[in-house]
Amino acid sequence: MDISGKTRVCGVIGDPIEHTLSPIMYNAAFNSLNLDIAFLAFKVKPAEVGAAIAGMRALNILGLNVTMPHKKAVINYLDEVDQSARFLSAVNTIRNKSGRLFGFNTDGMGAVRALRENGADPRGKKVVLLGAGGAARAIAYMLAKEVDELVVLNRTVKQAEALAGLIKRARNKKVSAGALTPSVIQQSLSGTDILVNATSIGMKPNAGHSPVLPEWLKPNLAVMDIVYNPIETKLAKDAKAAGAKVVSGVEMLIYQGAASFEIWTGCKPPVEVMRESALNHLKKVQT
Ligand SMILES: NC(=O)c1ccc[n+]([C@@H]2O[C@H](COP(=O)([O-])OP(=O)(O)OC[C@H]3O[C@@H](n4cnc5c(N)ncnc54)[C@H](OP(=O)(O)O)[C@@H]3O)[C@@H](O)[C@H]2O)c1
Repeated sequence: MDISGKTRVCGVIGDPIEHTLSPIMYNAAFNSLNLDIAFLAFKVKPAEVGAAIAGMRALNILGLNVTMPHKKAVINYLDEVDQSARFLSAVNTIRNKSGRLFGFNTDGMGAVRALRENGADPRGKKVVLLGAGGAARAIAYMLAKEVDELVVLNRTVKQAEALAGLIKRARNKKVSAGALTPSVIQQSLSGTDILVNATSIGMKPNAGHSPVLPEWLKPNLAVMDIVYNPIETKLAKDAKAAGAKVVSGVEMLIYQGAASFEIWTGCKPPVEVMRESALNHLKKVQT
């Protein structure tokens, strides 16, 4: 990449940020389309979020991704936020348009797109979503637009109930909540087309864990595990062995990034390049 006086900058802010794969994925994408944009990671402490966003304006940074723990705090410093980011009180993408800063949330879009592009279109389907944390909230909001029925199960039931209530009011769909217990999961899976794990169960160092018993997985079920460390979780392995369609967490990661890329550049994202660079990097760091 030739950096010049005309090169624009995009980046990601978070804390910690050292292990982000975003620079690998986006720089590969910018290069593949010959876009004169460089992507960097910035470690920003919670007390410095306002200063970081003021810096984005002052330095005319084109776009930022925002990760933990700043997704909510950053909203205070933006000029406008889109409907999903406002609903979720969480921004993961900022676009600088001539000094005006616009906030978006591409997590939910990324999940829905990952399902659709991998042959598990959620339209008109019954979906069971495990988890009610930040990622689950974003996924529930976008999924509920498409599905016929959504069931949210979480270890802290109150969180599941609060999320289900919120989504039900926003989307006017059949949405219910329950506990993340073996009997409730098994029961909920009856008649379910798609299962999404948005808990951190199965994430390293607990890679041997899965929220679902293998015998509950069937060939007519599609399973997306949004955990991408390891690339193939125990749930994904079990689902594959049961003959179910499996969508990896890496796919959600790529498609939420692809949506950010399009917001920043207005170009069609080179999804294959993003997938290859992300997978190569994850394979390297996860071995
Ligand atoms: N593929 C992607 O693009 C992508 C994007 C975002 C996140 N992720 C991954 O998704 C996972 C969740 O991220 P997040 O940002 O939503 O985190 P979060 O806000 O901290 O939420 C964590 C969720 O996992 C549940 N949980 C955690 N430990 C559990 C356990 N031992 N047993 C049962 N439930 C448990 C929590 O339940 P309680 O409410 O009961 O605590 C909550 O629902 C992480 O592994 C993250 O890396 C992937």
